[in-house]
Amino acid sequence: MDLRDKVALVTGASSGIGAATALAMAKAGMRVAIVARRADRLAELREVIRTTGGTAHAITCDMAVAGHAAGLLSEVESALGPVDVVFANAGYGLELTVAETSTEQLRRLFEVNVFAATDLLSEAARRLRASGRRGHLLMCSSCIARYALPRVGVYAAAKAAQLSICQAMRAELEGAGIMVSSVHPIATETEFYPQMQSASGRELAAGEKFPLVPDHAPRLFVQSPDVVARAVVKCLRSPRPEVWTSFSARLAGAVFALSPRLHHMVMRRSQRRERRN
Ligand SMILES: NC(=O)c1ccc[n+]([C@@H]2O[C@H](COP(=O)([O-])OP(=O)(O)OC[C@H]3O[C@@H](n4cnc5c(N)ncnc54)[C@H](OP(=O)(O)O)[C@@H]3O)[C@@H](O)[C@H]2O)c1
Repeated sequence: MDLRDKVALVTGASSGIGAATALAMAKAGMRVAIVARRADRLAELREVIRTTGGTAHAITCDMAVAGHAAGLLSEVESALGPVDVVFANAGYGLELTVAETSTEQLRRLFEVNVFAATDLLSEAARRLRASGRRGHLLMCSSCIARYALPRVGVYAAAKAAQLSICQAMRAELEGAGIMVSSVHPIATETEFYPQMQSASGRELAAGEKFPLVPDHAPRLFVQSPDVVARAVVKCLRSPRPEVWTSFSARLAGAVFALSPRLHHMVMRRSQRRERRN
């Protein structure tokens, strides 16, 4: 896809991966609609994009509240023109065992990560099909879409759901010239981890650490949001079904899919090590 003057909508653009990707898209010549709850952060990013000669339109929206998709797309169409690219990136995690997770926490996590993202991509697909235009729709999943880890099982399930939705939509929309890609970052240095702590509703015990926190995850599995942003823009230029930013994480997914027993052994070892520490 020639990206110049194409219109993109990025959710979760007030920080982290979404902000970095919106900026990278703008630098590639795209006109970008940026969506999140924090209006002040969106205004800052809009200014950064404008000072680099780009075009940005900010929309404040809580994706946990259902029924936003049509309104969001219509607002972007009015401000910037028909939408060519959607990156459904807004999301957050929980660091709780499955049994510790309340039904309300479970529902809200799926509402933001899965239902809102699916609604948005579906509405964008309907509009692209109706107008006969080509487009590219993406969701920000995770490397743990392919292998759940203890204490992030509910989050991993939401990311696995996103992967499945993208796989199905890609096949369903293929004849319409609409590409669908899932994005699978490894641990990325963003506000994700403090947000996860607050959404989980509990303080860490002395010496306790989150799983996969960039501070103590092996450096091999930690990256900056700019790495993801560059990979997403590359995927728009040269479309591919899945965007992985770590070969090791991708390989682990393939190996664990072939051998659930190995996954169980590795998880058991890491849990024992954690208990000892
Ligand atoms: N960081 C990682 O290690 C990592 C790894 C794999 C996948 N991911 C995925 O990457 C995506 C982006 O996360 P990040 O790492 O960039 O974390 P982040 O810095 O916390 O960014 C999350 C973004 O989502 C937005 N958001 C959260 N809840 C929302 C809601 N109810 N309505 C609207 N926007 C909402 C936040 O904006 P507001 O708070 O302003 O609304 C923020 O812009 C997420 O889907 C996450 O699951 C992250």
